[in-house]
Amino acid sequence: MTNNKGPDPRMDMARIPRHVAIIMDGNGRWAKRTGQPRSKGHEAGARNVREITEACRELGVKALSLFAFSTENWRRSKREVDSLFNLMTKSIKRYSDQIHKTNVRLLHMGLSDGLPAEVAGDIQKCVELTRNNTAMDVCIALNYGGRRELTDAARKIARQVQQGELRPEDITEETLAAHLYLPGHSEVDLLIRTSGENRISNFMLWQISYAEIVVTPTLWPDFNRDRLHETLVEYQSRNRRFGGRP
Ligand code: FPP
Repeated sequence: MTNNKGPDPRMDMARIPRHVAIIMDGNGRWAKRTGQPRSKGHEAGARNVREITEACRELGVKALSLFAFSTENWRRSKREVDSLFNLMTKSIKRYSDQIHKTNVRLLHMGLSDGLPAEVAGDIQKCVELTRNNTAMDVCIALNYGGRRELTDAARKIARQVQQGELRPEDITEETLAAHLYLPGHSEVDLLIRTSGENRISNFMLWQISYAEIVVTPTLWPDFNRDRLHETLVEYQSRNRRFGGRP
């Protein structure tokens, strides 16, 4: 639902987080609550991706990372997995032009291997189409796991050591950050999880080290602009210390 009231007056527009990451949880419970099959919950969730992406862009958020499908989500029934991927290709096909027109750059974070060819192809096309856009990065974490990302980074670094290109004592935090899936897309300022679960679920383990975490009881399909604005107000009330003193 679009909110025409404008931004929450408590929000400080000079302190909008640069990078927001969202664990979009609760589609299934939303469907159950409204007496519909789980697939309807995911459809409502996909519509909300568009709403919240637009709201973040309008606020001046520079990067938005969305957890759409984890390496663990393959454990769901084949029927649910198929319907999720189906929905993703449909959404990307439908919104590619709009993503491009609004100057948003789409990024994919995760393993392309294992994704259905059509999904991987559609994402790649949209990534290519939008590669020079500058308003905001929208990063879809698809077939993504934080531990796997760190393991892959360790492997790439180990290969360089093995080939004599790097000495172990020269490996720094920057080296590791430079070998993540999207090296330029590192630090998360605000991590939001919808539907009330207090868990990280293997999402962006490196990048959230100093993120402020806000867990909201709202189910993802109901997480509208007003709820987003409330979350930003909560973020702005926090005292970010990065391990130092205030
Ligand atoms: C969690 O709800 C949500 C997911 C596993 C998938 C997220 C996918 C979407 C929002 C739709 C498509 C995305 C894009 C990028 C177009 P759940 O099923 O775990 O809910 P539950 O915990 O209530 O069962």
